[in-house]
Amino acid sequence: MVHEHDVVIVGAGIAGLYAALEASRSVNTAVVSKVYPTRSHSISAQGGTAASLGNMEEDSWEWHLYDTVRGSDYLGDQDAQEILVREATEVAFELEHMGVPFSRTEAGKIAQRPFGGHYSGFGKGPVRRACYAADRTGHAMLHNLFEQCIKNDVRFYSEFFVLNLLVEDNVCSGVVAWDMRNGGLHVFHGKAVMFGTGGYARAWKVNTNALSNTGDGMALVLQAGLPLEDMEFVQYHPTGLFPSGVLVTEGARGEGGYLINSEGKRFMEKYAPAKMELSPRDVVSRSIQQEINEGRGIGGKGFVHLDMRHLGKEAIMEKLPQIHELILKFSGIDAITDFVPILPTAHYAMGGIPTNNDGQVIMDAKNTPVRGFYAAGECACVSVHGANRLGCNSTMDCAVFGRRSGRAMAKFLAPGVEKAPLPKDALDRAKAKLDRVLTAKGKESPAAIRDELQATMMVNCGIFREEKLLKEQLKIIKSLDERYKAIEVGYKGKRFNTELLDAIELGNMLDFVEIIVTGALARTESRGAHSRRDFSKRDDVNWHKHTLAWKTDAGVKLDYKPVVITKYKPEERKF
Ligand code: FUM
Repeated sequence: MVHEHDVVIVGAGIAGLYAALEASRSVNTAVVSKVYPTRSHSISAQGGTAASLGNMEEDSWEWHLYDTVRGSDYLGDQDAQEILVREATEVAFELEHMGVPFSRTEAGKIAQRPFGGHYSGFGKGPVRRACYAADRTGHAMLHNLFEQCIKNDVRFYSEFFVLNLLVEDNVCSGVVAWDMRNGGLHVFHGKAVMFGTGGYARAWKVNTNALSNTGDGMALVLQAGLPLEDMEFVQYHPTGLFPSGVLVTEGARGEGGYLINSEGKRFMEKYAPAKMELSPRDVVSRSIQQEINEGRGIGGKGFVHLDMRHLGKEAIMEKLPQIHELILKFSGIDAITDFVPILPTAHYAMGGIPTNNDGQVIMDAKNTPVRGFYAAGECACVSVHGANRLGCNSTMDCAVFGRRSGRAMAKFLAPGVEKAPLPKDALDRAKAKLDRVLTAKGKESPAAIRDELQATMMVNCGIFREEKLLKEQLKIIKSLDERYKAIEVGYKGKRFNTELLDAIELGNMLDFVEIIVTGALARTESRGAHSRRDFSKRDDVNWHKHTLAWKTDAGVKLDYKPVVITKYKPEERKF
């Protein structure tokens, strides 16, 4: 079956829905998603969304820009970063006016709280910049955008799993997807296609991500012969609940929570005496891991304590009710009276599908655009986060660049652009992909391969990296690739065949992890979240550049492109 729309958006998180809302103001718009829209991972964004509204004290976009540039360890493109921080204030008010139920100040303004890496006066003291709806900010934003899209007659295709991106001769014409509910292949033919397909942290054992975050969009881009950018930069969030890694919002530290080691000390004093627990995430995650590695985890184990007790019951229940409940349900611990065991947890992709500032996907170091193909949100690399993202800049990145992509697609279509023809073998390609998995007759279990991938990515491509471990991980990925060819999917049915979809997601993960590890091995420096024990310094002379990586028959191909600098030359970071 072929579905015809002007704009086809894959992914129903904040980026996808904001783009759909904008595009649907003037053109026929569809959203294809492997989960029901309000189950998209944006729902789990907790602590806030960054905008320099200055509702609590003085703030400015210039300070927000400085923090974002420095937070990114100078790898973000400063023109894109300036767009993010300037448009953030407008977008925050737009969200408010659309009905997002933000928490309020006494005066009725949007309430704001401190988050790591956000400071006043060009890096001086913490500033309250994170606009929040208690600790359910993503939930509030996502539901609101979904309602707005329904109002605008956006057509939703929920529980459709995209198998192929259709790009030929540098022009995108659509996608092919599997109907998860009823079985069957569907072609979505559009004049413009956008990916807002989210992140990939399920490739690590300890992570904050939804089960659905298997980096499918990034893998589809590789499979279509296009590159990914800066994939070696993987963010570990400092506070995942031990042992699973479920997110405990940075808002807990923003509201005043401390980190404590086995000696009862606030160890951040040693690593970042000025900014302590409100340093950027790469700094805090490394510090926690260092404490654990040196035996100062609680009871010598793999976690330290988050202490929120001094915040008091009233503040915790008003500002952090969801994490109070979550910690209680997952660990049986009451954060009002007890320490919370936490460890760093794989959280976010700084890299992704390379785009220009209007979300149009680019295909090489000369920034050549792919006609009709856009990406925004976590799957994309604009690049606003560079080597390390600041907390709360992600939901705002999704909103600002989702909105810009929606507008850009509508503008692209305005002169009456024709649809590019579908490749003749579009359906055959998708069928062959499905059949390969369904008819494979081997002894290997996809679940066992996935477990090994997740466990080894933690050890060999984690917070601290080195040549030996990364090389070892490449060998492991190659052997898992071989084993993947010999899997067997036991259930062959068409309806909700989650065994089949798990296997396809695993294939996607195996594709992009090779890019991550190869990029990390090549980058012989430490920058932001990429911390090499064997190259512990940042090397601006050789490595102040973005990585582009393709998957070819001959292996991973790497190229590099310059970072856009407008205001700030790289300087040493101290917190
Ligand atoms: O800690 C948090 O609430 C997560 C926010 C983010 O990743 O931006």
